[in-house]
Amino acid sequence: MCGIIAYAGYKECQPILLESLKRLEYRGYDSCGIAVRVESRKSRRGRINPTPTIEVYKDVGRVGDLAKSFPQIQGLKGGGRGTPVDGQDARPTRLQTPGSGLGIAHTRWATHGEVSKSNAHPHLDCSGRIAVVHNGVIENFQSLRDELTREGHHFSSETDTEVIPHLIERYYDGDLEGAVTRALADVRGTYAIIVLAAGHKKLVAARRESPLIIGIGDRENFVASDVAAVLDYTDRVIYLEDGDIALVSEGSISITSRESGRGTPDSRLQTLDYRPVQREEQVIPWSLEEAQKGGYEHFMLKEIHEQPKAIENTLSGHISLIERTVSLNVRKEAGLEDIVLVACGTSSHAALIAEYVIGKLCHLPVRVKVASEFNCHEMALEKTWVWGISQSGETLDTLRAIKKARTLGCATLAITNVPGSSITRIAEQVFYTRAGPEIGVAATKTFLTQLVALYLLAFSFASPDIMNAEGLIEGLRLLPSRVRQVLDGAEGIIPHARHLSRYDNAFFIGRGLNYPVAMEGALKLKEISYIHAEAYAAGELKHGPFALLGPSTPVVAMATRDDTYEPMLTSIKEIKARGSQVIALAEEGDEDIEQFVDAVIRIPPIDPLFSPFLNSVALQLLAYYAAKERGCPIDLPANLAKSVTVP
Ligand code: AGP
Repeated sequence: MCGIIAYAGYKECQPILLESLKRLEYRGYDSCGIAVRVESRKSRRGRINPTPTIEVYKDVGRVGDLAKSFPQIQGLKGGGRGTPVDGQDARPTRLQTPGSGLGIAHTRWATHGEVSKSNAHPHLDCSGRIAVVHNGVIENFQSLRDELTREGHHFSSETDTEVIPHLIERYYDGDLEGAVTRALADVRGTYAIIVLAAGHKKLVAARRESPLIIGIGDRENFVASDVAAVLDYTDRVIYLEDGDIALVSEGSISITSRESGRGTPDSRLQTLDYRPVQREEQVIPWSLEEAQKGGYEHFMLKEIHEQPKAIENTLSGHISLIERTVSLNVRKEAGLEDIVLVACGTSSHAALIAEYVIGKLCHLPVRVKVASEFNCHEMALEKTWVWGISQSGETLDTLRAIKKARTLGCATLAITNVPGSSITRIAEQVFYTRAGPEIGVAATKTFLTQLVALYLLAFSFASPDIMNAEGLIEGLRLLPSRVRQVLDGAEGIIPHARHLSRYDNAFFIGRGLNYPVAMEGALKLKEISYIHAEAYAAGELKHGPFALLGPSTPVVAMATRDDTYEPMLTSIKEIKARGSQVIALAEEGDEDIEQFVDAVIRIPPIDPLFSPFLNSVALQLLAYYAAKERGCPIDLPANLAKSVTVP
């Protein structure tokens, strides 16, 4: 989703903004742009114009291409001419000395209007002296645009965002913060914005339901949509909250807010009554190295290989092998009778696996709701515990579901990987996974650590009898080494991936707790290799999808040795009879499977309850190598974003 970075400091801002934009590429984008405040400018005749101006550069495509607009920046590849902003002076507008220490930049993931240079951010007001970058959606933009057009404002894009600089212009009388405040009172929707004005040596930043952080440096400050953008420069951050407006300059940060309190669910307050607030400074526990490829060809491959460590880190301090107990900081209040898990995408697959595990071990009623479909029908609100699962902690549908649940009186718990993310400030309790930063768009290590968290929670609610009898703690302890074994067998998965890469369609089938694993395998394959893949409960395939079986539709089957094994063999035989090739994921030592399928991916032996961990890693590798074979942009799949911060 859109990425935002802004700089206010003593250094030349353009190289910093470009490098930081590259760190935000993982969020997914289609175009990008930069606006910088230039103190003085040399005309083509050599005269100095002392009035500060704003220069904007934007383009469709990659940040690396945008860098070519700045030939004079040392250390950046390029040399092309500057790209003039649409609707502005058509002559090349190269940055002139002296450079600028104040600028904003953006990667756009199109929502309103096609992918084009004119729709890319930053957007300007009529005077060209106010520039805005925005993440989110302005719901009432059309009526505002009509109103502003009647007042004489001219628009040069199709975006919802462009109304913001024009609204600020409408209210501007020399007080930038006041104008931003009044402009924001007119808009409905979600936003993280940063405003740059030619007449001011400070940035104005504001958020409502879209993430925004301030990075604190020494004589330099940053504003960004996430910490990955600032990790090169600082690990000290402030997380802005809904309703905050921040003034950020080289040497100061001040924040005012119009929300009445932490976690307040109502984000539509239209008051102009802002009061100064202190937001706690936090230190990010992630290192820059963790957010770099470290010699791997793709972030996704690196993150797949980091999984044993990520599991260890997430388990750390929570299990006692001697006492066979789990200790967590999460409290289950008395009177809570059922659990509802809300999540999107891969996180919802983790939830579906947890539904099975919690149901089996804890005998608690548990349901999973895709966050965008969450409603509170059929819930006994004060007896329901709602868990929001989101690796980023910024997925808007999940945030809204948790806010709604909390407003209605449900107990809430967040499971997330990102310290300080929005979900941690909405839910009453938080369980952190410790996967470290995940940059690849495809969720891998965050998925496995979500499973660890959910298994730990399930075990903590299971009776001591079950914990003692089933060797569950031992199962958790073995996970890192068993996952390592799957990774050691990666070479053996490559031929199967190559084979799969030649098809345009595939089915993934599973039963029981491996049905959501099949869903996750299909999602991974389609998102990074663009092969159309669908997951089915193995028994369901014959109720319609069988019509699609045949030599051109391979089927990937989870053949785990548990009580679903025999029915799975039956399904496989039925599929084979219709001419499809079957690749099975089966345990080492299971020789029987060979006679029924075309190929086998071997999985180390493990208690079947933990099989989702190992099967998922094998499926991640299968998807990765299939995508690689097809030459796909694995870390940045088309049309996708790492965290989906729009509804
Ligand atoms: C999966 O590979 C995707 N990245 C996607 O399905 C993701 O899991 C979903 O958007 C939810 O993200 P979250 O965990 O950050 O809320």
